Amino acid sequence: MISEKIEKLLNEQIAKEQYAAQYYLAMAAWFYTQDLDGIANYFRVQAKEELAHADKIFDFINNIGGTVIMSKVDAPPHDFKDAVDIFERALAHEKEVTKSIFNIYKTANDEENYATVSFLQWFINEQVEEEASASQLLVKIKMVKDNNSALFLFDQELAQRKLQDTTAE
Ligand code: FEO
Repeated sequence: MISEKIEKLLNEQIAKEQYAAQYYLAMAAWFYTQDLDGIANYFRVQAKEELAHADKIFDFINNIGGTVIMSKVDAPPHDFKDAVDIFERALAHEKEVTKSIFNIYKTANDEENYATVSFLQWFINEQVEEEASASQLLVKIKMVKDNNSALFLFDQELAQRKLQDTTAE
């Protein structure tokens, strides 16, 4: 069983993961307008991962005897200045998600709800990876942004990204 407080936080996290998917799709859309379809592909795959994260929480709430309550998901911004701005926002967003996961983890720990603590461990590890990837890509885009050949290769590299089942235990 989970407390109402944890149930609410987990339901809010579903909406946050879905919002992240929307945000990444908005970023993908911007890159399509720049003919950088490879970078757009990266963000589309990222959006699918976020939806998988939402699904994972959805299943956990059900498995633990809670009730999933779906929320309205806000529209993301689309006023991106340039590619660097987008990668900066992606990293900042992942940091926000990490904070949110930590908050649920702390609450679950305080409540001695060890099933939720154990469940969230996967998300904590995932956030380490997501922040690291976002951070590395930010460094790279800053390096290549003013060099068309390098930008072309970076775009080609990100075109290779495919959805992997990262949600397995
Ligand atoms: Fe689901 Fe990118 O955090």
